[in-house]
Amino acid sequence: MAFTTENRSQATAHTDEEIDLQAIASRIKNGQITRVVVLTGAGISTAAGIPDFRSPNTGLYDKLAPLNLPYPEAIFHISYFSHTPEPFYAIAQARHPGNLKPTISHAFIALLAKKNVLHFAFTQNIDGLEQDMGVPVDKIIWAHGNWKSQHCWKCKAEYPEDSMKKAIREGEVPYCQQPECGGAVKPNVVFFGQSLPLEFDEKQKLVPEADLMLVMGTSLKVAPCSQLPRLVKEGTPRVLINIERSGDIGSRKEDVCVLGSCDDGVRKFADKLGWRDELEALWSSVVETKKDDREFEGVPSLDECIAKAARQMDERLKISNGHKRMLESHLGNKLAQIKAKPTMQP
Ligand code: OAD
Repeated sequence: MAFTTENRSQATAHTDEEIDLQAIASRIKNGQITRVVVLTGAGISTAAGIPDFRSPNTGLYDKLAPLNLPYPEAIFHISYFSHTPEPFYAIAQARHPGNLKPTISHAFIALLAKKNVLHFAFTQNIDGLEQDMGVPVDKIIWAHGNWKSQHCWKCKAEYPEDSMKKAIREGEVPYCQQPECGGAVKPNVVFFGQSLPLEFDEKQKLVPEADLMLVMGTSLKVAPCSQLPRLVKEGTPRVLINIERSGDIGSRKEDVCVLGSCDDGVRKFADKLGWRDELEALWSSVVETKKDDREFEGVPSLDECIAKAARQMDERLKISNGHKRMLESHLGNKLAQIKAKPTMQP
């Protein structure tokens, strides 16, 4: 990223990336940057205890190997869910946001709003932690939906909240209560093969209005959110805070890649903005008061849920193989009987 010598001379940090971040912070402080668009993904919630999807070994998709799915993303594909919803519900209790607390990265988005510089935030996460942290609901879109309501995937009938919580807690599939439907109930999260909320198209028009884009905790592998950073006008800085590089961020001269954990990155950014104490105080005020959801107390870990689901699927496979063998032997006996008896011939 190229900034003026004047900007660079204000910097106290040493690496190029820190100098660039300092220059951006100065432009926010002196009012040159007033419209920050944020895009987040699973990496801002890993510190809250939800594994991301694609990190090798620790990500959900690697962990799902024992389930022998046709491909890992199938667990979130509407066509797979429509006939095999069991794997989704087997892990739902371990990924349900009931007991989670926001991270300091969520708090940073809330602080941008408090400072009146949050133009808009897009999140791919379905945990709703931004709202818990106080990000105003008119400043954010949950592009992949959330757990706050649910309906039958087939007839679209709403399903009661308490029955849904019970199903998730027990790892059972909730089925539609409408007469003669029997479809599986699905939280209102967007699965592969489904459309994003209607307002997404409208809200993405806000991206070219940004004078800074902040991308945090996403591999930028899933469209259409992965395309949002490209909508930022040339010449406008884009900051990536992520463990690894993602998308095309780094390809423009104004881009800044702050590699490392999101929480470390936002603390670094807050230091440069002079907002660090306020950020920590805002975060603590929410984390300390957020009550645990007793409905989800003591739920098994994700690994335990997956191991249990793998055993159940194995059992089911043995049963269906057993059924197949029984039918084959029954058929074999019948054929033998038919052959043994003289049959009437025309
Ligand atoms: P991914 O798992 O694809 O990417 C998470 C990114 O965050 C990776 O680049 C990690 O290196 C990084 N990361 C993980 N923990 C981090 C941390 N503490 N600090 C900084 N970086 C960290 O998750 P998403 O990009 O959110 O959709 O995935 C997008 C969509 O794919 C999800 O919404 C989900 C998934 O399949 C559906 O299920 C429809």
